[in-house]
Amino acid sequence: MQETINSVVLTEYPAQYVALVRLNRPEARNALNNEVRRQLAHVFTELSGNADIRAIVLTGGDEVFAAGADIKDMTTATTISMYQRHAERYWQAIADCPKPIIAAVNGYALGGGCELAMHADIIIAGEGARFGQPEVKVGVMPGAGGTQRLIRAVGKFQAMRLLFTGCMVKAPEALRMGLVSEMVADGETVARAVEMAQEIAKMPPIAIAQIKEVVLSGMDLPLDAALTLERKAFQLLFSSQDQKEGANAFVEKRTPNYQGE
Ligand code: CAA
Repeated sequence: MQETINSVVLTEYPAQYVALVRLNRPEARNALNNEVRRQLAHVFTELSGNADIRAIVLTGGDEVFAAGADIKDMTTATTISMYQRHAERYWQAIADCPKPIIAAVNGYALGGGCELAMHADIIIAGEGARFGQPEVKVGVMPGAGGTQRLIRAVGKFQAMRLLFTGCMVKAPEALRMGLVSEMVADGETVARAVEMAQEIAKMPPIAIAQIKEVVLSGMDLPLDAALTLERKAFQLLFSSQDQKEGANAFVEKRTPNYQGE
């Protein structure tokens, strides 16, 4: 089944409980203009509230995941126009998504494209994928979380190298650096991401949502506060029917059937 929501962001449903969100602006190498960002925010907001979806795969094209913010738009942009478009509200819709997001990256993930991939929870890269934050080469710097998410993913010394030089790193290096979760053959990126999404979709959805919330919120808290957050979330799961289902299925030696309740 395929439902075309709009022109530049497509949503497909390749398996039960799994949505596949695809950037579709090939003529501009999937550059993220305001319309792409607006449609991405719309799609992620809808999927966030859709109980039939338990995992989301986010991808671009075969040659380019996304070439970053739209540089052509920047030629006339002013401080006030950049402020008034409030792109952060669109990005926030993706950052706030409580469901697991798996980015399936083929080709270039540059600038805002790399930042978009870093909004995901897991990144599966094709062997030919290339990642970079080349904003400095066009006179600016990352503006959608690149400085902060990159340093958290790869540490100061790799982040600074990428941010200061604008260099691209190929998938094997990105994997070694911790910017990529898994590398597969280029033709298998989306299939592998959907397979992993299906695996995650079989897990108890409330536990998955709590893991995501605690990992992301806890990362920036002092350790004691983060451990308290974890403990409270762990305890909360004992109110879920899925917790009983998981424990009973183990004891009865059968496969659990999680309902998200
Ligand atoms: N913005 C607008 N248009 C873009 C674009 C971008 N980021 N990237 C590519 N395009 C357009 C090109 O201008 C070109 O359009 P025309 O046909 O009208 O000339 C078309 O897409 C094809 O591009 P190329 O001919 O360059 O394609 P290629 O396959 O040879 O190269 C590429 C692909 C390596 C991705 C190259 O296009 C490129 O380097 N793009 C720019 C990458 C970049 O600097 N990104 C950072 C943007 S700033 C940012 O992202 C800020 C932020 O943090 C939010």
